[in-house]
Amino acid sequence: MAETPGLKLVDRDDDGVDRAFRADVLEGLRGAQKAIPARWLYDDAGSQLFEDITQIPEYYPTRCEREILEARGSEFASAIGPGRAVVEFGSGSSVKTPLLLKAIDPAAYVPLDIAGDFLRAAANELSAQFPGLPVYPVEADFMRRVELPAEVADMPKLGFFPGSTIGNMVPRTAVDLLRTMRETLGEGAQLLIGMDLVKDREVLEAAYDDAGGVTAQFNLNLVRRINRELEGTIPVDSLKHEARWNDDFARVEMHLVAQEDMAFNVAGEAFSLAKGDTIHTENSHKFKRRSTNTLLQAGGWTPRGRWLDNQGCFSVVLADAGILRTAP
Ligand code: AVI
Repeated sequence: MAETPGLKLVDRDDDGVDRAFRADVLEGLRGAQKAIPARWLYDDAGSQLFEDITQIPEYYPTRCEREILEARGSEFASAIGPGRAVVEFGSGSSVKTPLLLKAIDPAAYVPLDIAGDFLRAAANELSAQFPGLPVYPVEADFMRRVELPAEVADMPKLGFFPGSTIGNMVPRTAVDLLRTMRETLGEGAQLLIGMDLVKDREVLEAAYDDAGGVTAQFNLNLVRRINRELEGTIPVDSLKHEARWNDDFARVEMHLVAQEDMAFNVAGEAFSLAKGDTIHTENSHKFKRRSTNTLLQAGGWTPRGRWLDNQGCFSVVLADAGILRTAP
């Protein structure tokens, strides 16, 4: 796909600094509980580290979701039917998307992603694997309503949002996104979404704090990025990765914990952390059947089917954009 002229998804200042990154980091560091949005974990190094995380033994979600997509293909085929345009929110990993496309006989595939290079690479790979399938990549921020290509306008749509990425959003943001997806996909659409499940604290905390330290590097990479891109002086070696289960909010939180009192600058502004203070860098919400259904309904989707892996670790849920009812 050629670069779309005039489309500027990243707004940089004269020094090449991503303005949204700087604004989010500075705002996040000014609060009493320092917190930086998790989307900034994914620069090139962070994206590679996340790919590595999906391979580690403790990180079960990728394996379990793949098992579901592999084992339940014929059930997806009968629940979804042929001839839909599959719209994937975030470019497909080379493994999960083909499993779905093989199972359901779609009419087209539309990957949406903000990272143009990654999008084009993923689209080319899919085209090579499915030579007869029209592929229309769209470089876009799917957190906002996206105009889909004219070629798929008359096709029924299936949104695909695997990986439990919805769990990285607080409920208010997740509901906004689900509603936006519904607008992007239109009436009659379906949504197939991966949602990770609540389970024992030990299993959850280990999945986000693996013995090999890959997740720790993923978390610390955010600080390295801040130091590199925003003239930061945060002492990386004095921060320690921690994964905490927050039972009230049903989520694993990633924090960076100060091992000593520290003072540092970012983009010319001074900050400090006392020993034991943290920078909160990610939430990964986990769901039960009822919380899944409530979230989907709040976002304008009616749950229709739910599949779990053999161990009951992870769920894939099918919902449709049926008529929204406000009456009880
Ligand atoms: C991308 N997302 C669904 C991952 C998760 O499980 O919340 C990100 C991640 N963070 C640490 N490990 C994996």
